[in-house]
Amino acid sequence: MINYVDPSGVHGLNVRTVAAGDSADPHMYAAYPSIDDAPRLNEKLLKTVKEQLDRFGRDASRDADLPHREFNIDWQLAAASDQVIGVRLRIGESVGAGWSESRTTVWYDRTDSRVLDSAALLKDRPALEELASIVRDRLAGPRRETSSRTVKADPGLFDSLGFNPRGDLVVEFDDNQVGAASLGRVAVAVPASEAEPLLSATGARAQRAALKTTSEPGSKLWKEFIAEAGTAKPPAASSQTGSVDCAKAKCVALTYDDGPGPDTGRLLDLLGADHARATFFSLGANASARPEPLKRMMREGHLVANHTWSHRDLTALTDNRITDQLNRAQYAITQTIGQVPALLRPPYGATDDRIASIAAGRGLAVVRWSADSRDLRTADPKVIAKRVVAEAKPGAIILMHDVYRPTVDATPEILRRLREKGYTFVTVPELYGSLGMLPGGTYNSGDSTGWNDLGGPKSSGDTQAPLQRPTTP
Ligand code: NI
Repeated sequence: MINYVDPSGVHGLNVRTVAAGDSADPHMYAAYPSIDDAPRLNEKLLKTVKEQLDRFGRDASRDADLPHREFNIDWQLAAASDQVIGVRLRIGESVGAGWSESRTTVWYDRTDSRVLDSAALLKDRPALEELASIVRDRLAGPRRETSSRTVKADPGLFDSLGFNPRGDLVVEFDDNQVGAASLGRVAVAVPASEAEPLLSATGARAQRAALKTTSEPGSKLWKEFIAEAGTAKPPAASSQTGSVDCAKAKCVALTYDDGPGPDTGRLLDLLGADHARATFFSLGANASARPEPLKRMMREGHLVANHTWSHRDLTALTDNRITDQLNRAQYAITQTIGQVPALLRPPYGATDDRIASIAAGRGLAVVRWSADSRDLRTADPKVIAKRVVAEAKPGAIILMHDVYRPTVDATPEILRRLREKGYTFVTVPELYGSLGMLPGGTYNSGDSTGWNDLGGPKSSGDTQAPLQRPTTP
């Protein structure tokens, strides 16, 4: 009901990431925005994210035997104007039992540089009581499955407020707050005329900002894109594919996940200065917020690939949700670089036959890795460089993260020492040369032991991967 703002139009916005790493358990990933001229907002968002991560880390270690432990934060802009910014965080987690989500919207008033919780969009305590009363009436109406009794005038309960483009005040609740978790998100829209007398000055600014938010652009393009998804298309390649023959050269594929982030540009400078090419497994949400680094990757001969929309463990999702995670990222990346990604790296490397089959339908080969830099688990660039150099073999696919500053700091040494050992840096498809990579196939490395060791394409019709030796020694 809220039309979220396209973040790529917000000046000075960056996407920050806090993550445990793609091979870590429990699975933890959090993304949130920062805005250059709003340091107090950035502090508040970082604090909120860290508190949630710490809390989940404690819960997850207490329940260490439970099967699926995952935490994920993603974000949207509820509004953005020169007066006010609203950042909505969606916090999802699973500790053994099913997935549940909470939502919180933090507001920043640019006119006085104040950070406010959602309840501060209301002018005073009686206004909060009035809003609680309106919401109780609405929940008690036709929606019998919700429970209005739990709706109290508690700022903690009213911690995610925003406005739809008509100016109605939208109150949303966490899973389990006013109904069973199976209901999912419960939200109530209070008509603008009823809401306006309750608003504070910041609330009125937020409402005005939301009125300017137009409906999502490109929905027609999106429909066309989805209709065409999975139909034949030329394989994606970097602009310099074919310049290296990995049957002859000693090749290694540097891969960077989770970006683009604030340090991605510096990484591109370093790779470019060394004429090294890499593969970037980008998150759709980050790519749509910061499209420029992806355009630069394409121009400079790197390959951009799909790391899903918001970094959920795909093995825990329904088929529809998996498809949505892949499609949204494919769309965001394709809109940005004008080329449809052909590779998918599932978050946490977590994949199975079902995911390979859905990937095949989207024209995607599944790429894991043969060497894990475990970069996110150290702050020391020297340690990262040492691991990468130690684990590099001809045909290796090396997992790193361009969102992580120490990894970018380690890059000059990684490039120098691997060059000394005679390596050439190529994109992932170049490791496979003329053998190519098939949609639905799973690829761990280009060397003879790790190559396609999950058995090749399982779900792309009658096609089987050619089971001869790969092109690298
Ligand atoms: Ni990742």
